[in-house]
Amino acid sequence: MQQKTILIAGCGDVGSKLGQQLLQQGHNVVGLRRNINQLPQGIQGISADLGQLDTLQQALSEIQQCDILVYSAAASSHDEAGYQSAYLQGMRNLLQALPVQPQHLFFTSSSGVYHQDDHGWVDETSPCHPQSFSGRIMLQAEQAVAQASVPSTVVRFTGIYGPGRNHLLNRVRRGDVAPQEPPQYSNRIHRDDCTGVLNHLINLHFNGQALLDCYLATDDEPVTMHEVTHWLAETLGSEILTTTASRRAGSKRCSNQRLKDSGYKFIYPDFRSGYRELIHSQ
Ligand SMILES: NC(=O)c1ccc[n+]([C@@H]2O[C@H](COP(=O)([O-])OP(=O)(O)OC[C@H]3O[C@@H](n4cnc5c(N)ncnc54)[C@H](OP(=O)(O)O)[C@@H]3O)[C@@H](O)[C@H]2O)c1
Repeated sequence: MQQKTILIAGCGDVGSKLGQQLLQQGHNVVGLRRNINQLPQGIQGISADLGQLDTLQQALSEIQQCDILVYSAAASSHDEAGYQSAYLQGMRNLLQALPVQPQHLFFTSSSGVYHQDDHGWVDETSPCHPQSFSGRIMLQAEQAVAQASVPSTVVRFTGIYGPGRNHLLNRVRRGDVAPQEPPQYSNRIHRDDCTGVLNHLINLHFNGQALLDCYLATDDEPVTMHEVTHWLAETLGSEILTTTASRRAGSKRCSNQRLKDSGYKFIYPDFRSGYRELIHSQ
């Protein structure tokens, strides 16, 4: 395949792993973030702040080719200003500052755009009326992406887990689990499947296949927090000391049918396979 240039804006955990895969496939990968010291070898770094249009323009002025743009920046602060800056303004600034038009834009969004709280199934066609500021801003960013002049695909990740993301493991190691009632369905995806999904969709595009405007990226098994935490406690051999209801973020079951219909095969189809490996590697 002809060598392509992929610009990954917000080249952090998911972006860097994706960049390494694309490098191995012979492509040219450019990673943009403020601190480029941690970028893996081979990714050409651009140090710039997506929130600063003038310096962003300067930093991108040398870019002569950008076949694919992946926008995977994450908010630095969990507040309205942080979300506006990372997901809305940053993306607008980037599209304005890029001296060349990409063929396709991939925007990493979140299942936080769903408002559903009735334990039912949701997919890409389900209504989204988020109540939280984070869900509302993410949905606005998705709409801005759809209205941009560049053909685009939104990828909605559910809760990402994987190397370095030890919050849930540490909670259970402390002996804290989730209650059975009220049930709270949670949805997750391993970091390596996040990069796998993006890589898969990018390659479908390279192979001339038409992509849909949105894919919900989550593993095969929505599961209650009670079941996840109890399974982890048993696997870790942790004594259960306390039971704490999680912060309510809705309760819904996310479907990955569209993604699987596109041909994606999950590396970690459920939380057990992903966490088992994580636990053994620690
Ligand atoms: N965590 C989850 O469970 C979850 C769930 C659903 C969706 N997502 C989304 O998935 C995507 C990938 O997440 P991730 O885990 O790879 O995030 P990450 O590791 O935090 O990477 C995000 C990168 O964005 C860069 N960044 C942030 N603000 C920037 C700015 N103003 N200018 C330039 N770069 C900036 C950061 O680098 P510098 O600090 O060096 O600039 C960081 O490397 C994100 O869009 C996130 O919102 C995450």
